[in-house]
Amino acid sequence: MMKVLMLNGSFNPDGSTNAGLEIMAKTFAAEGVDSEIVTVGAKPVADCIACGKCKDLGRCVFAGDAVNEFAAKAKDAEGFVFGTPVYYAHPSGRVLSFLDRLFFSSRLADNYAAFRHKPVASIVVARRAGTSAAYDVMNKYAGIAQMLCVGSTYWNDFHALVKDDVPHDGEGVQTLQNLARNMVYVMKCIKAGREAGIVPPVADDSVITNFVR
Ligand SMILES: Cc1cc2nc3c(=O)[nH]c(=O)nc-3n(C[C@H](O)[C@H](O)[C@H](O)COP(=O)(O)O)c2cc1C
Repeated sequence: MMKVLMLNGSFNPDGSTNAGLEIMAKTFAAEGVDSEIVTVGAKPVADCIACGKCKDLGRCVFAGDAVNEFAAKAKDAEGFVFGTPVYYAHPSGRVLSFLDRLFFSSRLADNYAAFRHKPVASIVVARRAGTSAAYDVMNKYAGIAQMLCVGSTYWNDFHALVKDDVPHDGEGVQTLQNLARNMVYVMKCIKAGREAGIVPPVADDSVITNFVR
């Protein structure tokens, strides 16, 4: 069975972000796709310290949170959803620390092997404003890791102060359900392509230039 691995970037395992992910999980289940939610949690999440140890270890050097658990599960996932509440018009600080370490360690360990050429969508929830700014930030991980960013019938946002508000945002709920179906469609296309012998391209990835040398 195909599987989507989802991340709840709130401290709250049972808040609005989780409610949005659960809506998607229900749609995935109706489409015959398995899903799992990993929650960032309320404990402090270390930021990336650029130690580079992930290159030798094959995982992030910090072991006290769910980053390495998520990375291990990512290998067997066909798609991803990254969810976050909006804080001051950006994603939660903890989800950014989480994703920075997840993606940087994945890059140094094996050039994003668990993520590249797989579909991903970010979803963001706010009481009122800041969703599109937060959405922009969340989507930037996809672009650098050769992931396929999936859209819906609106930018992937919904509105709630608390989880009980979520069902009242009818358009938000539809956006999440349509997004889940679009993800399933992309995952099925990739699977069918692989079975027909269409394999992902090998990237030119040996030249590194920056602005001073
Ligand atoms: C520190 C903080 C900052 C917030 N900033 C915003 C904001 O900029 N715009 C907004 O509409 N809601 C803001 N909110 C409200 C949350 O986005 C909203 O309550 C959301 O549903 C929480 O999701 P959760 O239950 O998954 O944590 C903020 C909440 C907190 C705690």
